[in-house]
Amino acid sequence: MEMIATEWENKAQSRELVIGVLGLGYVGLPLAQAYCRQGFRVIGFDVSQSKVKMLEEGKSFIKHISNDSVKVMRDTGRFEATTDFDRLSEPDALLICVPTPLDAHRDPDLSYVVSATDAISTRLRKGQMVVLESTTYPGTSDEVMKPILEKNSGLKAGIDFAIAYSPEREDPGNPKFETSTIPKVVGADTAAEKRMAVAVYQAIVPQVVPVSDVRTAEAVKLTENIYRAVNIALVNELKSVYSVMGIDVWEVINAAATKPFGFQAFYPGPGLGGHCIPIDPFYLSWKAREYGMTTRFIELSGEINANMPGIVVQTVAEELSGRLEKSIKGSKILLVGLAYKKNVDDMRESPSLTLLEMLESRGANVDYYDPHIPVVPYDHDHPDYEGRKSIEWNTETLKKYDAALIATDHDNVDYDVLLKNIPFVVDTRNATHMISGKLREKIVKA
Ligand SMILES: NC(=O)c1ccc[n+]([C@@H]2O[C@H](COP(=O)([O-])OP(=O)(O)OC[C@H]3O[C@@H](n4cnc5c(N)ncnc54)[C@H](O)[C@@H]3O)[C@@H](O)[C@H]2O)c1
Repeated sequence: MEMIATEWENKAQSRELVIGVLGLGYVGLPLAQAYCRQGFRVIGFDVSQSKVKMLEEGKSFIKHISNDSVKVMRDTGRFEATTDFDRLSEPDALLICVPTPLDAHRDPDLSYVVSATDAISTRLRKGQMVVLESTTYPGTSDEVMKPILEKNSGLKAGIDFAIAYSPEREDPGNPKFETSTIPKVVGADTAAEKRMAVAVYQAIVPQVVPVSDVRTAEAVKLTENIYRAVNIALVNELKSVYSVMGIDVWEVINAAATKPFGFQAFYPGPGLGGHCIPIDPFYLSWKAREYGMTTRFIELSGEINANMPGIVVQTVAEELSGRLEKSIKGSKILLVGLAYKKNVDDMRESPSLTLLEMLESRGANVDYYDPHIPVVPYDHDHPDYEGRKSIEWNTETLKKYDAALIATDHDNVDYDVLLKNIPFVVDTRNATHMISGKLREKIVKA
């Protein structure tokens, strides 16, 4: 393997390595772009015909990745997207970026990882490297993937082919960071495999952080996301406590954040959303049970975060009654923002969906406005699906509502116009902090 690693390092340097990316979603597509930009030939594999077709046509299916950038990638002639998994033997490095959700029992659902690994295993050739980037529990590469790869290929990990883990750290919609500017952690179990993993990532990021082994790297990613989930739960709890004391939690956090050490600001909201933070911590809880351990912080933060939508809906109900003498039943509510966070079109696990469901189950008539999500559920494979549609943004339409509930603080929403045309606004994100004067009386922070 040492010899393979030396040749590999040279090929990484000269851009002769061919990169395969499995799963061309929020993580895989920018990763493919980063390699292509650095002069590598990249083959992107996805099970979605429609995504592959769009990429071939030079079109993006992700809001913050422009059509132009996809066209540039395609026009280099170094990028191909395919659903033909027989071509998995062509790339040298196979980087897996498939979903890792929870199943109906809120246990890890590794079916996508297993299916991608299966597909690789029957085409695996000597000298290839398989790297999982999807978030998962420590032990996945070693206990789940390695046996499949070895059994179906007859090859030996660490000798014939390499295995590594490198967690993805995308922050979609954050203009300050992109794949190629974020340091990357890599873990592999032998020195040669680590050299190969470092070489492949060094080509696209400013800093590679090698750790002892694959399990440690898997644990790094979970630790990062558990840290966020727990801290968000903490500020969500503080929000409820300070609110009854008449203290504005956002003002408290922003002032505390001026401390130059020992404090990192996290902000409250209507609950947790996205494909990562509400899900990933439970990958560790599940694995910990195998060792007879419980993860009380994770469970507690999950409970606090999951309670947030209920608290918000209760506030809406109380304000409708107090301000308008109306019951939530029959009221007209405008939900502002469906995406799980600002300025993205991703509504996976979005608390807005829970809010919508809760408000409707209490008899409210709910419409939504989200400039990034024109129709829900938005389905790239069925773009013509006639689902629930975002309202047209105009003063006449806004005037129809009894209240607005801001669940996502998108930048391109005119909160001033919203407040001028609606009796009151429940703001779960401090999106209206810029509003001044009399209009502030219409704002309820929740
Ligand atoms: N979205 C983020 O911000 C983010 C950040 C860090 C880590 N992650 C992690 O990265 C992983 C991928 O997340 P994502 O947001 O990119 O998901 P995604 O749903 O946007 O993309 C996954 C892609 O994989 C494809 N796919 C499914 N099964 C496949 C298979 N067997 N072979 C090839 N392609 C297949 C899907 O069609 C889809 O295009 C997850 O583990 C997630 O937790 C995501």
